[in-house]
Amino acid sequence: MSASNDSERPTCRVLYPGSFDPLHLGHLDVIEQACELFGEVIVAVLYNFAKDSGMFSVDRRVELAEAATAHLPHVSVEKHAGLTTQAARAAEVDFIVKGLRTPGDFEIEQQMAQMNHSTSGVRTVFVPSRPDLSFVSSRFVREIAKYGGDIAHLVPLAVAHALAAEFDQHSHDGN
Ligand code: PNS
Repeated sequence: MSASNDSERPTCRVLYPGSFDPLHLGHLDVIEQACELFGEVIVAVLYNFAKDSGMFSVDRRVELAEAATAHLPHVSVEKHAGLTTQAARAAEVDFIVKGLRTPGDFEIEQQMAQMNHSTSGVRTVFVPSRPDLSFVSSRFVREIAKYGGDIAHLVPLAVAHALAAEFDQHSHDGN
């Protein structure tokens, strides 16, 4: 922890990891909560070199996350291959932050948090999602956008535009 410039209150730096394919308003809510609670947030777009099968490229996900968090001065976005705990160590954060939407999320997230702590000593703090966003997932956003459904109220504006462009392009390609 370090002292922030504008007050003597200590500020934590935390890592918020995810695939973010794409980032949606539920993610943005967790980022905003983490800023309020901890101070500095590094959004880590995690990817697997061996399996880059996402919809948006990792660099595009980073661009979109940067656009969506441009109003938050203490947020930065990075991409990382490998383990979340390696990204956490490299960024010298105090904690990993994860959002929890449902009891189902808790089951897997608790296991990952315990595994990550056991293998690296890095602790995870859970942030409950805003109830009105707890049903939003990247997977459903992708699926609904693909078939022309309305997801504009569930994602930041830059992501809505990127999804529209992506699927408009594919419809012209005949895909
Ligand atoms: O948004 P997602 O897809 O649910 O995020 C999952 C993510 C990327 C945070 C998770 O899969 C992850 O931590 N991947 C990096 C690999 C890793 O650290 N594995 C060990 C898990 S205990």
